[in-house]
Amino acid sequence: MNRRQALGLFAGFVAGSPLWAQDEGVLGPVNVHEFEEAAKRKLHKLAYDFIAGGVEDELTLRANRQAFERYFLVPRVMTDVSTVDTSIELFGVQMETPIIIAPTGGKSLVFPDAELTVAKAALNAKVVCTSGGGGPEKVIADGQPLVWWSNTIGQKDRESAQGYARRMEDNGARAITITVDNQYQSNRDRNNRNRFDYGYMREGVPGDAERRKPVNPALPAMWQPHTPNLTWQYLDWLRGATKVPLIVKGILAPEDARLAVENGADGIIVSNHGGRQLDGAIASLDALPDIVDAVGGKAPVLMDGGIRRGSDILKALALGARAVLVGRAPLWGLGAFGQAGVERVMWMLGAELKLSLALAGQPGLRTVNRSLVRRL
Ligand SMILES: Cc1cc2nc3c(=O)[nH]c(=O)nc-3n(C[C@H](O)[C@H](O)[C@H](O)COP(=O)(O)O)c2cc1C
Repeated sequence: MNRRQALGLFAGFVAGSPLWAQDEGVLGPVNVHEFEEAAKRKLHKLAYDFIAGGVEDELTLRANRQAFERYFLVPRVMTDVSTVDTSIELFGVQMETPIIIAPTGGKSLVFPDAELTVAKAALNAKVVCTSGGGGPEKVIADGQPLVWWSNTIGQKDRESAQGYARRMEDNGARAITITVDNQYQSNRDRNNRNRFDYGYMREGVPGDAERRKPVNPALPAMWQPHTPNLTWQYLDWLRGATKVPLIVKGILAPEDARLAVENGADGIIVSNHGGRQLDGAIASLDALPDIVDAVGGKAPVLMDGGIRRGSDILKALALGARAVLVGRAPLWGLGAFGQAGVERVMWMLGAELKLSLALAGQPGLRTVNRSLVRRL
């Protein structure tokens, strides 16, 4: 399928369309896994590996998926599911679906002007998007009602932290997510093997990359610090400068979840960075129930990691997640078909979730609880 056919194929997709492509003779991806295959065919190997890959032996990357395969749904019947409502209110915002685009750096490896492209897709798909910046601000400045959360790995001192928070609020960010598991550049074997140049994250991968000597390679050991000095005090700094909700991303220990809330976090994202930081870290879905118990309803708990299907989302919601984030799934849409691909992936996940809810006998999210899942 060439680019024009792909765009034509996707132009016709609207909210009520089926879960497969309608054009005669042209088969489009019918699920997120197939979007990954389509993106893989188009992307440079270095870009594909950067996105698909995890850290070291990829134990956590695989565990994120395997965790979903251990939980099974216990559906209810005879409950009248002629309509199914997936909407939630989160931090004062009404959302049609509890599925949020996660922050992902290096989108330029996949598509030109990718932050803006994803932000436009989020607007059309009516989903919240989380971003390090560079796209959503433009959509907001254009007067469009995009709900975006800015994402940061932190700043070194109070002054720069507070300057950042004010700037993001001025740029229309409705929340700030703070990634707390990115103290150092992690050790990613695929990138090391590919002699990946981290400069490509800004510029994209040049055609002759495999023959080039990387100018910005990943360095071994702890030589590439990001924000290793972050402590809970950082939340105080931000809180001194902004009223937007502060959401801590990258929590896996129940004790840290409790501390986050005690230190003023308005929300928590259970996450292991998609298996990209500490290899061997627990799968997000496995960490979720204890964290939900530890937080005890004092703040919404969100999760990400390994979500590829609507039924995955239902399992996470049943274990107590208020909403989920997806990282790679929209990137596969972006790599395969640009903005239309991101929209399609987000729509598809929403449609799968709705259908899973209906087939599990749930007319809405309020009735979803742990009785709906069993871990085998
Ligand atoms: C290519 C890529 C880049 C990412 N960059 C960031 C980042 O800059 N900040 C961050 O907090 N998380 C980042 N993540 C992690 C995601 O926000 C999210 O936690 C993870 O992708 C969820 O797992 P999933 O990809 O299986 O959905 C990145 C993930 C990927 C795949």
